[in-house]
Amino acid sequence: MSRLRLGVNIDHVATIRNARGGSYPDPVRAAELAIAAGADGITAHLREDRRHISDADIEALAVITRKRGRPLNFEMAVTREMEAIALAHLPHAACLVPERREERTTEGGLDVAGGHNHIAPVVRKLVDAGVRVSCFIDADPAQAAASQAMGAQVVELHTGAYCDAVRERSPEVERLLGALKATAAEAARLGLEVHAGHGIDYETVKAVAAIPELAELNIGHFLIGEAIFVGLTPAIQRMRTLMDEARIGRAA
Ligand code: PXP
Repeated sequence: MSRLRLGVNIDHVATIRNARGGSYPDPVRAAELAIAAGADGITAHLREDRRHISDADIEALAVITRKRGRPLNFEMAVTREMEAIALAHLPHAACLVPERREERTTEGGLDVAGGHNHIAPVVRKLVDAGVRVSCFIDADPAQAAASQAMGAQVVELHTGAYCDAVRERSPEVERLLGALKATAAEAARLGLEVHAGHGIDYETVKAVAAIPELAELNIGHFLIGEAIFVGLTPAIQRMRTLMDEARIGRAA
């Protein structure tokens, strides 16, 4: 089983900064620290309302990730504006996400199957420009198939429902984990690289990281929260260790 990459999402460093305006704390400094702590890549979501990451952050993150030789994963809604920004910066990867202004976070996966006409031209333009395109989807093999048919190279599975179920001790846990496993297997069979993310913490990472088809996890909110208590570097290092242990556990 290949090593699982850890992408660190630094959006919520910007959330804290924006609570006061000004420039502190700087998400770019957090990205530098995350890379030094072992992050394999940096993820940032430029939302339509700019509630956390700003245009200037994306510009600076594109520069430092290039300098440090780590991929930038640009999370974006499927809009003309975001497409233009992605094409201007040419990040290593773009992860297409659904976005509604009123939501607190990305609450569900992209309906790739239902949104074909709207999404396919954006996928094509980004792929043609050399950007690796990922679709953030719910655990549904039909959405993986639609992503592949559209030309995306990657799908990122939305783990939010599974992680919430674990925290709530819901009877749905096994069914939701089964859906993630089945979708990961189907996506890999279709030749897609498979990522996962949303809501992952030290408890939920274990079962997710053990899904053999996964190549990358993207984790943000929990790591930035833990950074308040223990610091960003130890939080990332502990997550890294748990990911590695989960992989070894499966191989044994
Ligand atoms: N992956 C995607 C596509 C996301 O939209 C998010 C949230 O911005 C994450 C991963 C990270 O989720 P969390 O912040 O809950 O770890």
